Amino acid sequence: MTDILSHTEAGVLTLTFNRVARKNSITGAMYGALSAALEQAVADDAIRTVLIQGDPTIFSAGNDIADFMTAASAPADAPMPESPAMHFLRVIAGFPKPLIAAVCGPAVGIGTTLLFHCDLVYAGDNAAFSMPFVNLGLVPEAASSLLAPQMFGYHRAAEALLLGEPFMAEAALEIGLVNRVVPPTEANGIAQQQARKLAAKPLSALMETKRLMKLSQQAPVLERIDVEGVSFGKAMRSPAAREAFQAFMEKRKPDFSKF
Ligand code: COA
Repeated sequence: MTDILSHTEAGVLTLTFNRVARKNSITGAMYGALSAALEQAVADDAIRTVLIQGDPTIFSAGNDIADFMTAASAPADAPMPESPAMHFLRVIAGFPKPLIAAVCGPAVGIGTTLLFHCDLVYAGDNAAFSMPFVNLGLVPEAASSLLAPQMFGYHRAAEALLLGEPFMAEAALEIGLVNRVVPPTEANGIAQQQARKLAAKPLSALMETKRLMKLSQQAPVLERIDVEGVSFGKAMRSPAAREAFQAFMEKRKPDFSKF
């Protein structure tokens, strides 16, 4: 069974994380499938909006940690190949058609940061957002080091990015990361309704409006994704990150006392 389900109906391409046994954590192959689907959606006139959703119990546990461990095992001075995750971030940040997300349960790491690049976000009241990069010896990605302080205010962004503390749906609503909080079993349906409303509008006007709203931000966001990517690549191969990944696999608390 594929880990990303794809379905087009009424002008809406719906992409569903389908790896619930692994909490919808995202592998390189899944980033590849998401990027390919979004790139195809740009070119396909029949696709007018895209909806990204998970399960009523889990949106995504973020990057697959086994994948992180593989990348972290490369020597520190080896060149980092362009990762499928980096490519996905560039694609989603530049995606020109309306993009909607329905989020229920945990949305960890990129499960939260990808939402900065969605136009509308509907959250189940069980949604728990977190960006625990520092807790893994890592640094922010997806331009979250730029966009979180802008959206949340610096101090709340610091709580989310330095302490890595989760915040629930109501807090996400208050800071403007989500549009509406709804019962978890209804989130995907409500997001689908909104996507279809958008799909019925003139696409050229929607795309131009999105382009104009993002005009002053587009270049800095893409630049920040690249700058963060360099730091992330280094951090991923640091002893602290290796300890964090190993600890996750061994289901124990990491010991950062030496790093
Ligand atoms: N990568 C790989 N496997 C993951 C994973 C991830 N990011 N997140 C969860 N899994 C696996 C677990 O190892 C577990 O595997 P097992 O059944 O073989 O033991 C399975 O998915 C279920 O996860 P579990 O932790 O038991 O579920 P939970 O409901 O108690 O907690 C989360 C859910 C999402 C809160 C928790 O799994 C979590 O914190 N995951 C890691 C998130 C993370 O740090 N991501 C990287 C961000 S940069």
